[in-house]
Amino acid sequence: MRITFKLIISLIVVVVFVAVVSAWLNVRHEKVKLYEEVLSRSALLAESFKESVRNNLAAKNYASVQRLADKFQSQKQLEGVAVYDSGGTRIVSSSALTPVLAVHKEAIDALLKEGRDNPVTYAMAEKKMFLYPLFVALDGGDTARIIIFTNVSYIDYNLYKIWKRTLIRLLVQMVLISLVTLLTIRWNLVDPVIQMAEWMKNLRMGNAHGHVPPIKGDIFAPIAREATTLATNLQAARRAAQNEARLRQEGESLWTPERLKELIKMKMDGRPLFVVSNREPYMNIKEGKDIKTIIPAGGLVTALDPILKAAGGTWVAHGSGEADFEVTDDNNRIKVPPEEPAYTLRRVPLSKEEEDGYYYGFSNEGIWPLCHIAHIRPIFRKEDWKYYYEVNKKFAKTVLEEIADVKEPCVLIQDYHFTLLPGMIKAVRPDARVAVFWHIPWPNPETFGICPWQRELVMGLLGADLIGFQTQFYCNNFLDTVDRTLESRIDWEHFSVQKEGHTTIIKPFPISVDFQRPDRDAKALGEKPELKTVLKEMGLKAEFLGVGVDRIDYTKGMLERVKAVDRFLEKYPEYVKRFTFVQLGAPSRTHIPQYHRFLAELHAEVDRVNWKFKAKDWKAIAFLEKHYDHKEITKFYKIADVCMVTSLHDGMNLVAKEFVAASDDHRGVLILSRFAGASRELKDALIVNPYDIEQMADAIYYSLTMPKAEVEERMTRMRQDLHENNIYKWAANLTEELMKLRMDDFKLTSV
Ligand code: F6P
Repeated sequence: MRITFKLIISLIVVVVFVAVVSAWLNVRHEKVKLYEEVLSRSALLAESFKESVRNNLAAKNYASVQRLADKFQSQKQLEGVAVYDSGGTRIVSSSALTPVLAVHKEAIDALLKEGRDNPVTYAMAEKKMFLYPLFVALDGGDTARIIIFTNVSYIDYNLYKIWKRTLIRLLVQMVLISLVTLLTIRWNLVDPVIQMAEWMKNLRMGNAHGHVPPIKGDIFAPIAREATTLATNLQAARRAAQNEARLRQEGESLWTPERLKELIKMKMDGRPLFVVSNREPYMNIKEGKDIKTIIPAGGLVTALDPILKAAGGTWVAHGSGEADFEVTDDNNRIKVPPEEPAYTLRRVPLSKEEEDGYYYGFSNEGIWPLCHIAHIRPIFRKEDWKYYYEVNKKFAKTVLEEIADVKEPCVLIQDYHFTLLPGMIKAVRPDARVAVFWHIPWPNPETFGICPWQRELVMGLLGADLIGFQTQFYCNNFLDTVDRTLESRIDWEHFSVQKEGHTTIIKPFPISVDFQRPDRDAKALGEKPELKTVLKEMGLKAEFLGVGVDRIDYTKGMLERVKAVDRFLEKYPEYVKRFTFVQLGAPSRTHIPQYHRFLAELHAEVDRVNWKFKAKDWKAIAFLEKHYDHKEITKFYKIADVCMVTSLHDGMNLVAKEFVAASDDHRGVLILSRFAGASRELKDALIVNPYDIEQMADAIYYSLTMPKAEVEERMTRMRQDLHENNIYKWAANLTEELMKLRMDDFKLTSV
């Protein structure tokens, strides 16, 4: 505003100056002109009067001079004329003038005395009088003086009128100039600047639309050009910063194979990673004369293979495939995966007796039902225990061979098949960092206490530096078990156990999947699978599809699931001939009688339900009993409306997580048992009690009638969680925890 005021004042000063100067010049010119007029008129009058004065004065004819003088007084501003003798005595004067002259006698006398012959102005009778004198030479050498009196007050009045006009004009001009300046500045400067400031503020706050500022006109063209460039750069910089922040955040929270590889390289100082499990990640079987590679079913392989692919290293496992040792080298090693070798698989051969006793017997008839509260009685045989111990020793020997040349190696042991292995390795290689990850549940101490070798199992496990469980609940159960079983020091605050100078940390590490893998599988499938086509290949027709994917195991709640489908069709008959449930079942542990019985019962139950709802071209349940690879499973995940994971008890259950990872179109509902570890994380699944058939039937109905938006919301939230908590994060957490343990202290305390 101050600038507007200054501008107005400057303009006014200039205008006033110009106006005053021009008015002054004008006035001066006018004044000169008017006085010249008066002068010439007076001179003319005086000259014309002069002759008659001379003649009449010589003839002493004063009356004639008087008449003449009176004649002069009625003309325009002419006030009159007076004639004085050489002594300054008035001889004659116009009658109207005579009294005025009497009043101003002294002034006139002084004027005459000075003998001036040039005109003067003099104030007389409130009038400004122009006195024009003229000498008249009389006969006889005498002189007389004629003075013409003209009232020139009108000149001042005229000049005053000029000044007045000028001032009024000036006033109007000032008002107009102020108004025009104000409006011009407002429209052409203030408003655009305000708009520009608003635009810049929005730009700063990231709300500006477009890059072009809202100002036009020549004055602003250079600013507009610069502002456009500035906006473009700012928006690009902001986008880059946002991108960088997102990437940084993703980079911080998102674990990828590359990031895991870097972490392992950095934390393990270039040393290789050693993984031990019973189940191998790649199995070679015979198909006619050919040898085929298959990937065994089960969460452990699903989870750990991507880690080894990313980080490299050696995986020691039971070579259980019939053609396994036909493809290994002399040291029973083979590079896997066959299509793109990334790590070494060291296969451990087991005799039939060893496999029977250690794997089928102690591990899967003893510990498995012991840890899964699935109401199957565990069987503990002395013979099995002996083989279990021997096979653990055999694996220890193999692992010690593999780590022989590696200083402070890092060994990750998997699952319940190897409870004795950590102690056996540490006894020989105390410098090794040993972790055990327990994939299945750990029961309460009362349940675990029925195992005749509970003390040996717990002691063996406590040989490890770190024991990981799927949930905090299982960690608590484990510490309770240690408390009841052994003399040891338990630190409940830090969740650790000290036994014979060695410390073991106990922590939960919920295992996960490679979130991107189903995506890659889907791409490898080519075109997006369609429900109609897939069912047609099976000779079926349906509008809705439910899917279950399991290793055929009594802990998975498959019988309960079949019963739930039966009840659902009974309760909601409108879905008969419209809903089909496909159960993919991978045969597992087939030499265990309990599994035979379970499989037979499952077949019978499926038959019963299918017979009950028998219809042309449709089946309530399609039980596909065979080994399916990931790509085939992904196909079913992608077309399913609902996936059922109804374990009676499960450490985690990675089928639930794989289904979520595969649902990239955010459709599909997950029904998940509350007894699966995954239910602690996937809270947007429909959580069910698998023993409650009615509830499961309703859950199927609800999943098929759920509003699309809710389906998407639930799936989106689960996917976000899984995207971050993927298998690479699990491996990174486990590795970091293991590598940060202070091994030196342990050695010192064990001395
Ligand atoms: O998840 C528990 C587990 O025993 C894993 O160790 C194993 O990979 C999976 O189940 C499959 O079991 P199996 O190796 O006995 O076929």
